[in-house]
Amino acid sequence: MERETAPVYERLKHIIPAIEWPVHAPYIAAINRLKLERRAVLLAHNYQTPEIFHGVADLTGDSLALARQAAETEADVIVLCGVHFMAETAKILNPARTVLIPDLEAGCSLASSITAEDVRLLRQRYPGVPVVTYVNTSAAVKAESDVCCTSANAVEVVESLGADRVIFLPDEYLGRYVASRTTVNVILWRGHCEVHERFTAEDIRYYRERFGDISVLAHPECPPDVLAEADFVGSTAGMIRHVGLNRPKRVVMITECSMSDNVAVEFPETEFVRPCNLCPHMKRITLPAILRSLQTMQHVVELDAGIAERARMAVERMLNPAARGNRTNA
Ligand code: 13P
Ligand code: SF4
Repeated sequence: MERETAPVYERLKHIIPAIEWPVHAPYIAAINRLKLERRAVLLAHNYQTPEIFHGVADLTGDSLALARQAAETEADVIVLCGVHFMAETAKILNPARTVLIPDLEAGCSLASSITAEDVRLLRQRYPGVPVVTYVNTSAAVKAESDVCCTSANAVEVVESLGADRVIFLPDEYLGRYVASRTTVNVILWRGHCEVHERFTAEDIRYYRERFGDISVLAHPECPPDVLAEADFVGSTAGMIRHVGLNRPKRVVMITECSMSDNVAVEFPETEFVRPCNLCPHMKRITLPAILRSLQTMQHVVELDAGIAERARMAVERMLNPAARGNRTNA
């Protein structure tokens, strides 16, 4: 087993102390074996811990990449190492495949900030105004929306509709960021990410004072005053791309903490200052939970067929701009 996982540890030895590896190694070996037996593919979000991200995941990325990969996989089983809305998105795009989430309680403060009924009421209040919904929402909310977006494509999706006003749900700060980048009038909802809303502009000033020449990259789920202090604003994948292209000497990613560990593996010459804000929902996904999930084939993500069909139209309008001509789910 040690031989099986030695190449993985070779990559992770700067991130995971040697004393911890014997705890992870047996799980990594068992998961990688069982994955093949089950003809399963493991998709992991950028916020998963490095032993998952580099040890057992087949495909990794931001919310947009995970949705795209989920739409293309040929595997019998998809294990979504991320939060519940991501597993639902994988199921929406693959109704015939088995989608598993290792922990059903892996939620999201944005997804729980809004219900399908809220969207129906907004439509009554703003008749005819298109509803653009962040993928960090339940399938039921997506089903009431016209088109989905992620933090990587929100501005492009909003502008592509050709409307002078849109309802943008549910992330207020991402919505404000979009509004700052477009002439489209954006009607906001007051949802927030419990991880990103904790960052302050003062934190960033502290990093600059304490670490001098530091590149500050921030996720658009952060409050506007934080974004105003950043050198670059982008999705998790956008931040990784930015580091790859610019190779800063020192960087701080104003986002979930595990991501810096994952990216540091790829760019050992860059120094990562790690602001340790963890997402408690993402952290419910662990190696033991993934192994249990493959052993017991739990927890299967099931969706009402009608909701899934309407949600799929909103997600597909995001993935395929040509489908936005027929843009409404009203
Ligand atoms: P992205 O990976 O799409 O940037 O999203 C961040 C996030 O908070 C997902 O939960
Ligand atoms: Fe939701 Fe924020 Fe956690 Fe992402 S980091 S899953 S937006 S609570």
